[in-house]
Amino acid sequence: MAPEITIGRILKVNHAGEYGAIRIYGAQIWIARRFYPAIVAPLSDIREHEIEHCRLFRDAMPARGARPCRVMSFWSLGGFVLGFATALLGQRMIWICTEAVESAVHRHLVDQLGYLEGRDAELKSLISSIQDEELSHLHEAQVRRGGAGPVQRGAVALIGALTDMLIWLSTWGDSTRMMREMRKGSN
Ligand SMILES: [Fe+2]
Ligand SMILES: [Fe+2]
Repeated sequence: MAPEITIGRILKVNHAGEYGAIRIYGAQIWIARRFYPAIVAPLSDIREHEIEHCRLFRDAMPARGARPCRVMSFWSLGGFVLGFATALLGQRMIWICTEAVESAVHRHLVDQLGYLEGRDAELKSLISSIQDEELSHLHEAQVRRGGAGPVQRGAVALIGALTDMLIWLSTWGDSTRMMREMRKGSN
């Protein structure tokens, strides 16, 4: 498959994922304002990053002939429900959700960086700077959630699997094809 198709898919899924993240944090902030005001500021800082990431991926699209995902409403709803449900379960669950989502994101970005090596230096450097911020979100979540028992670890695994499923469903399997191409391409 031509690299531009895979690169287009990378942009599409990343842009949609950032949009979903904005919605997750938006819903959590909405609940946190009422019940856990102390964490509104850190969540808002993270959300600001996601807004910027979303914009950067959108801006990278035209030059590469890529288009946004057709089902952005799916990401919007999925993100909102995930953020809302986890926030209702308590402050700690907010950070567990962040940890799970950000680690799923991180795994995807690592694969993408491997694929882009030697193919699109500009996009690779954009993704790696975004990856630094995603990692900072992940670390912040790990610090704030405190020690993780089996329940927390189970929740992280479940939300991680949900995130992967959301990515898969929204791209109608594109992400599987994309992963296959990336794996082939980075050998
Ligand atoms: Fe992001
Ligand atoms: Fe993030």
